[in-house]
Amino acid sequence: MTPRYTIPDLLEQADITKNADIRETVLPYIRSQIEALEVYDAQRPQGHPYEFHLHSERMAGNLRDFALFLGWSESIADTLYWASLPHDIGKMALPPEIWDMEDKPTPEQKTVRRSHVTEGLAIIRGTFPANMLALPFMQILLDIMENHHETLDGTGFFGKKRGDLDLIVRMACICDAFDGWSVHRPHFGVRDISPDAVIGRMETEKKGQFDAELLSLFRIMKCGTPAHS
Ligand SMILES: [Fe+2]
Ligand SMILES: [Fe+2]
Repeated sequence: MTPRYTIPDLLEQADITKNADIRETVLPYIRSQIEALEVYDAQRPQGHPYEFHLHSERMAGNLRDFALFLGWSESIADTLYWASLPHDIGKMALPPEIWDMEDKPTPEQKTVRRSHVTEGLAIIRGTFPANMLALPFMQILLDIMENHHETLDGTGFFGKKRGDLDLIVRMACICDAFDGWSVHRPHFGVRDISPDAVIGRMETEKKGQFDAELLSLFRIMKCGTPAHS
């Protein structure tokens, strides 16, 4: 039987259709940041396959679809789209050369790349006053930004664990990783990047990192079928 997920209270409160301040101030800001990310992408080497502004749109679109798949309303799904869209804007604070290397990144380069999370948080916290940052929508935006590279087994960027990661973050982590592994990059070698294969790896090679119940629902949403047994 399909598990039922109710909309978290904070997300109900964050509904963008009920928050004029968010619609009039924050959403145009988020759109401008994605446009700036597109400009940043243009500074990276020609032919790089993984454009961050497009990844951001796809990740946020997947999260919106996931919310609708759980039976949540259009306005709640749109709220999640907007709250997740800026999750990677901190990448713009880093030198463009850090992302597109022929070889695997060194541990030092990995540390720099990972700092896009704290850089993004600093951008948001430096842009909006405390009373805005306290709004439910902004709390969800910051929660997704801070935790989108965490895993349930504690192997993520900050080593947080299952109990630290709420439902929205668990959904966002699946959507983010799924898109990241669905765009072929040179270091992948020969690899099937179909939705079925990508989700299959998330279920097996990455077992324990994602919420298994949510991942099985995500598979049904993307592939129309439950996991292979
Ligand atoms: Fe990220
Ligand atoms: Fe991302």
